[in-house]
Amino acid sequence: MSDLPFDPSEVTTRLLHWYGQAGRSFPWRETRDPYRIWLSEIMLQQTGVIAVQPYYRRFLERFPTVVDLAGAPEEEVTDLWAGLGYYNRARNLHAAAKQVVAAHGGKLPADLTALMALPGIGRSTAGAILSIAFDRPAPILDGNVRRVLCRLFALQADPRSTASEKKLWAWSEALTSVERPHDYTQAIMDLGAVICIPRTPRCDECPVEPFCEARRLGLEQELPQKRPKKSVPTRHQVALVIAWDDNVFVRRRPTDGMLAGLWEFPTLEVSKDGAQASAVQALCESLCLGGKPALLGQVRHAYSHFKLELALYRVSLKAPFDANETARWCPRGELKNLSLHGAHKKALPLLDCDSL
Ligand code: ADE
Repeated sequence: MSDLPFDPSEVTTRLLHWYGQAGRSFPWRETRDPYRIWLSEIMLQQTGVIAVQPYYRRFLERFPTVVDLAGAPEEEVTDLWAGLGYYNRARNLHAAAKQVVAAHGGKLPADLTALMALPGIGRSTAGAILSIAFDRPAPILDGNVRRVLCRLFALQADPRSTASEKKLWAWSEALTSVERPHDYTQAIMDLGAVICIPRTPRCDECPVEPFCEARRLGLEQELPQKRPKKSVPTRHQVALVIAWDDNVFVRRRPTDGMLAGLWEFPTLEVSKDGAQASAVQALCESLCLGGKPALLGQVRHAYSHFKLELALYRVSLKAPFDANETARWCPRGELKNLSLHGAHKKALPLLDCDSL
């Protein structure tokens, strides 16, 4: 690239030096096992480093190798993912593990095209795996790195436009270290996470501040340009907390679609405002329940593409109805250990009253 405002190798050198002193420690930085690094990159796609660590450890205890993961039933994989959100990641990881075993002899391929052919691995994740696990120079462009580059090069345009994407990838490539890709990728990730943070970047502590175009122009707090927030719809649902002898009835969601394979209280969509009572009645009828459920409380939960308002109603039974593989009576105290989906997990404090 000829039109860069600085010599990229100087920025790379400074970043690597800073990383040597200030780089963070994580369990996935104590290994060079491509499977373990791949798992960390998938977990970190939409979840922060603090939340990921216990999940990462538990997952690897249960599935220490890609062969163990490939051979597991899908429910076990989603159960270990419960609480991390974005469950497609778990299903894609599982499907990809099967492909790695079937087509690559159980070894993750050290090749961009082959990695990107695996479910759940896009260009940036492939770049992260190639550089961190295989020490190959490959650029990345995750959220943090995007912000760093928008500031470093003072990108004054929508960073998600096609033209911006092209520039950002080219800048990322120009900065990527050829000598130390493993360290460089993690260095720029850390810079974005610790120094070049969203609202008020810590420019005084930044190792590449003398090169930063946004800083030179006084635009470090303005960039990256924000996209207008898209408005997300609100959906309303009702759920029944059916109690019998200190057990609560839960069902497993279907194995495909949203929140696949997670447990929940029987739930129904409220089709229009004010129709909550009829939704509760319809839900009771579908389960052949008599009586009048009482409102326990409401919870709100945000998903990427809608907001959910969930009203929970309580029904107590004198005798249980039949359970099976996908519907069971769970002791109330054990609900917290079940792979319930997020909104229903959030509702658990409502069930803490003694008189369910
Ligand atoms: N975010 C994505 N990948 C990461 C990594 N390897 N270390 C820290 N944060 C990350």
